[in-house]
Amino acid sequence: MPPAGHPDESMYQDMASSSPTTPDDHSFFSSAPRAERQVDHISPGYSSPSSQFADAHRSVRNICCVGAGYVGGPTATVIAYQNPHIRVTAVDRDAQRIRRWNSRHLPINEPGLRDMVRIARDGSKGFSSANEADGGSLDVETERCIAEADLVFIAVNTPTKGSGVGAGAATDMTAFEAAVCEIARHARAGTIVVEKSTVPCRTAQLVQDMLAAHRPGVRFDILSSPEFLAAGTAIQDLLRPDRVLIGSSPTPSGRRAADALADVYAAWVPRARIIGTNVWSAELAKVVANAMLAQRLSSINSISAICEATGADIDEVVAAVGSDARVGARFLKPGIGFGGSCLKKDVLSLVYLAESLGLGHVAEYWRHVVSMNEQQRDRFSRRVVRCLNNTLVGKKITILGFAFKANTSDVRESPTMDIIRTLRDENPLEIAIFDPCCNPAAVRQEIEATMKRDQNTWKANGCPVIIYSDVYEACAASNAILITTECYEFKITWQAYSIERESSKRFYPTLFARRKLTEMDIIALHESLLQLSKCEEGDPLRRFVEEPLCAEDCPDCELVGTRAGGYRAEADVDWRKISHHMKKPRWLFDGKGIIAPKEIASKMASLGIHVESIGRQGNL
Ligand code: UDX
Repeated sequence: MPPAGHPDESMYQDMASSSPTTPDDHSFFSSAPRAERQVDHISPGYSSPSSQFADAHRSVRNICCVGAGYVGGPTATVIAYQNPHIRVTAVDRDAQRIRRWNSRHLPINEPGLRDMVRIARDGSKGFSSANEADGGSLDVETERCIAEADLVFIAVNTPTKGSGVGAGAATDMTAFEAAVCEIARHARAGTIVVEKSTVPCRTAQLVQDMLAAHRPGVRFDILSSPEFLAAGTAIQDLLRPDRVLIGSSPTPSGRRAADALADVYAAWVPRARIIGTNVWSAELAKVVANAMLAQRLSSINSISAICEATGADIDEVVAAVGSDARVGARFLKPGIGFGGSCLKKDVLSLVYLAESLGLGHVAEYWRHVVSMNEQQRDRFSRRVVRCLNNTLVGKKITILGFAFKANTSDVRESPTMDIIRTLRDENPLEIAIFDPCCNPAAVRQEIEATMKRDQNTWKANGCPVIIYSDVYEACAASNAILITTECYEFKITWQAYSIERESSKRFYPTLFARRKLTEMDIIALHESLLQLSKCEEGDPLRRFVEEPLCAEDCPDCELVGTRAGGYRAEADVDWRKISHHMKKPRWLFDGKGIIAPKEIASKMASLGIHVESIGRQGNL
């Protein structure tokens, strides 16, 4: 959608005046006076955020989430879990996805998600702060669910446009537009419509126009409340967000809608973390947050190239630079570049927005963030070819990791795909792939789909790409191993990492001193007990009720290696065993910097493995 100019009050006035027939003193609303606030003038350093949203006034009893994917599914689950008094439904046009949400085989593999779903969807046997946690359900009856809702989230896919005007940069609004049409057709007057999908700045205007076109004279309130969850940590991000944004129009009705949504989040998010903005700011802030993360990564990756050429060590540079509080330590890990469905898409969306606004130099600035990212993985692939004497003919190359990051089975926009493309052009004997988190069938599907898009055949150049479910088979007779996902299984001392990763979940018994446990206390206790028993799954508090049984012919049960909690191969890598079966000279290309320099010097050297890491010169 091309941006429509600068934010101004007129759009808000339009939004407010489009439906004069609906009174502002709807019975849902509280008549209690609240401090008047011009949403436009909230500064980022708003001094008393807890007072931004008034308490209970227009209560939400029924929420429908349109889109049950990576954002909609986990978001609906956590909202249902935390608000047992609210009926939450998630709808999706993909009936198979809904079937999986309602089964033992969730469509998404996220740490902690399954436990949340079991309580939110199936109910709890007990040990609940409010013992009525049966509010969630997933449905295919879009029409009914939207019609019954007080509040509808739009959480559908907004990928980059593949063709037509703005192809390769603009946002493809097809699914979003379809969702708005459904809402326009079925929603009750007064429904709060919330943009959860990442959308271009000023999309609320589009929503407003579409609703007005379909339902002239009917009032809807449109909010922007973008999601900041990341794959692999979605549940933690939802449970303990840095902030929750609610963008609303500065009309009385808009403010009441924002307050109502704030109440839903306030069931578990401290009010001080719920930030009110105008609608455009919320829409833009989401895109900018991702663009800034991408920019950090491209910046540090550009420095990794300088380190490789000079002998400076990227980890030492990162530690030195990141310890400056103004820079901060997070999102500075160099690698083969960022992947995933969001960062690139959102930078490109910003590029398109800037171009549409006639800000060519701004667009050019952000475009470099993406081209730097592409250069990074290309540089890595070329390094592999160079080290192997500029020929891969007759050689087996093993790739460890296919998901775009650790702890997820999400393979969309995986940087590994670009590496496979480049290496395959070198005619190797075989490219072997292993990822402990990904179902081999899903990896095969993604590669086949990408090759098809590239108009290439599966066995182009005669080089087979084979996906393994056993790491040792994948590495046997290999000339070079490439680590492309930072899975803890590939680390030499992953136990230490795992403890560090989980330490935030510690539960403090002093919580029992409180009069009433909150759901967050119970979650912390649950996580803590799992940690103590050193297992990722289980029901230490005996809360779960029986899950729905699968049908005899359940297609998901038939998928190779599928386990109830999602796919995870047993693969704590024994590098001694791997090195034993590799071809000499043994090469390891660490694209994620997970093998520390001291481990390279001691363990890897003793195994006769030459390690080449991003941002460091090789150990030859
Ligand atoms: C991102 C944002 O983080 C999240 O807030 C937003 O809602 C969705 O987009 P996601 O793409 O799921 O989340 O993962 P993220 O953790 O941001 O990682 C993106 C990519 O950057 C991955 O390929 C990851 O491996 C890479 N990365 C991340 C690095 O290379 N180094 C780092 O230090 C961090």
